[in-house]
Amino acid sequence: MTEIKKGLAGVVVDYTAISKVNPDTNSLLYRGYPVQELAATQPFEAVAYLLWHGELPTASQLAEFRLEERRHRTLLPAVRTAIDLVPRTAHPMDVVRTAVSVIGASDPAADDSSPDAELASSIRLLAALPAVIAYDQRRRRGEDPIEARDDLDYAANFLWMTFGEEAEPLVVDAFTVSLILYAEHSFNASTFTARVITSTLSDLYSAVVGAVGALKGALHGGANEAVMHVFEEIGDSSNVVPWLDEALSSKRKVMGFGHRVYKHGDSRVPTMRNALVALVAHYDRPDVLDLYDALETEFVARKGIYPNLDYPSGPAYHLMGFDTATFTPLFVAARVTGWTAHIREQRAANALIRPLSEYNGPDERHVEGYEAPADDDTAARPEEAAG
Ligand code: COA
Repeated sequence: MTEIKKGLAGVVVDYTAISKVNPDTNSLLYRGYPVQELAATQPFEAVAYLLWHGELPTASQLAEFRLEERRHRTLLPAVRTAIDLVPRTAHPMDVVRTAVSVIGASDPAADDSSPDAELASSIRLLAALPAVIAYDQRRRRGEDPIEARDDLDYAANFLWMTFGEEAEPLVVDAFTVSLILYAEHSFNASTFTARVITSTLSDLYSAVVGAVGALKGALHGGANEAVMHVFEEIGDSSNVVPWLDEALSSKRKVMGFGHRVYKHGDSRVPTMRNALVALVAHYDRPDVLDLYDALETEFVARKGIYPNLDYPSGPAYHLMGFDTATFTPLFVAARVTGWTAHIREQRAANALIRPLSEYNGPDERHVEGYEAPADDDTAARPEEAAG
């Protein structure tokens, strides 16, 4: 009997030098650095540089990288037109998926898969995504778009373009921490999707479009948005117990809890919870933290399943003022760094990713009334053909 590894659980499919998730020690390393240290000391641009180049940038490398990123912050007219054509009833992840596709179609070097060309495309995507996401949230609110500022770093400019005012440093810091924590996480579903697409020798943009589709799902990136819906449903910490009784008795999954790899807690949660605590104090919303803690305590006590990164990041993005449907696009803006690092790694040592399956459908049968032509070998030797 062939052993089936449902969901590829526990299957090691390749090497990677980009990040290491260790569920036993609850640690996550980007190119060897603990993610908590990066979140405490680095701007997001330096982490993107690290993921792509393998080393943290020197001051002059960072300055050059920032200059390049700032050069590509403005939406291309074709991308703006494409976004305008997407109905406002569509999910913002559909907008991001469409925008990445149009950015790719507009890049004359899209099919150049040399490392340098793919690095240039990666920077272009990184720089363009805040404009896409901010533009879409603003159009949904009936607000005019805001032009990018080239005197602000990546995170501050992202908030500026979304809200049209300079964010407080504490908010920029919390946002930066979320981007760094979301940037990379080994062979998760969307990254693996990007690697599968790359393995066929398709282009970087196609791989990212596929990854966006994978991230949209509620079991993956869509969970940060779903967490906020859960918070809205519960409303107040005093409702946690009856809400959870009902949710668990109807076998509902509670979004923001559980992880395929971490079974004793997600290494990124304490850092993001600290950022959430700072935001709660800043916006004077203790009710949010009360609900957060009450649901976590009750859920862990009943199920022994711990929160994942989406659990603190959902309410953090809510406090910053983002629409709930924009949360997963924010995850895209961060994770595009990890995806593109993996695309380039896959490209550098490629093997077509093509697993096997065990067939469990009907035995061979034939269409009623079909008569095989006289020269059809398979009809003459059905046993051999079936094998
Ligand atoms: N709420 C309720 N039950 C949960 C749960 C959750 N969030 N996560 C896992 N479980 C339960 C499952 O129902 C299952 O119970 P059973 O064995 O009685 O059927 C058991 O725990 C194993 O879950 P399973 O989904 O098979 O494990 P997995 O390793 O495939 O799951 C996730 C990982 C992330 C898909 C899963 O934990 C989940 O769906 N979480 C909610 C979505 C989420 O937050 N995703 C973001 C991940 S970063």
